[in-house]
Amino acid sequence: MKIKIAPSILASDFSKLGETVKLLERSGADLVHCDVMDGNFVPPITFGAQAVKAIRPHTALPLDCHLMVLHPETHIEDFAKAGADNLTVHVETCDIPALFKMIASYGVKKSAVINPETAVEKAFPAVEAGADMILLMSVHPGWGGQKFIPETLKKIETLRNFCITHGAGELDLEVDGGVTEENVHDVIAAGANVIVAGSAVFRSADMAATIARLRG
Ligand code: DX5
Ligand code: ZN
Repeated sequence: MKIKIAPSILASDFSKLGETVKLLERSGADLVHCDVMDGNFVPPITFGAQAVKAIRPHTALPLDCHLMVLHPETHIEDFAKAGADNLTVHVETCDIPALFKMIASYGVKKSAVINPETAVEKAFPAVEAGADMILLMSVHPGWGGQKFIPETLKKIETLRNFCITHGAGELDLEVDGGVTEENVHDVIAAGANVIVAGSAVFRSADMAATIARLRG
């Protein structure tokens, strides 16, 4: 499967988001991962649809929006109109089939995500509901720069096997949190193919080289 790298702009300088997404595109990123936090589902607040709209004209890369928010249904329209290409909602916050229907009605890709303490089986109904991608959190949502939770590897394997046996073997499986050049091979070997990387990309001296190495 094609490995896609999705740098998280959470780790970048918020005073120059436009320049940053242009640089990511030149550096070979496949997606721009946008971490939306509401101060409720997770303690911090980051940014919302208005910021997504602001960066939209600066890149042709898909904007992969990870909604760490309570009541995501009240925000779907705003993010769709802001130019999001994918909206990922937490299974802990909503009724996935209903949200998928709503997201798809705007012509946007629909994805589901589970927290580290949520059983991987909770992601199965989202696969069956026609998800375009499933995201597995490999850190507790809310902050960049945390350590990868190793138990995630088993969850990736279980989910990839479920996909294979349920006619969705090629489904994009994304992993988010603590992914580095040291552990990315294990993450890919377990069956993930979309790699979110915040600190690993933005703390490196050469983003293009880091993105290339993360791809393996
Ligand atoms: C955490 C976010 C992640 C985070 C990843 O809540 O969803 O996307 O930015 O950052 P790193 O790669 O630094 O763990
Ligand atoms: Zn994220």
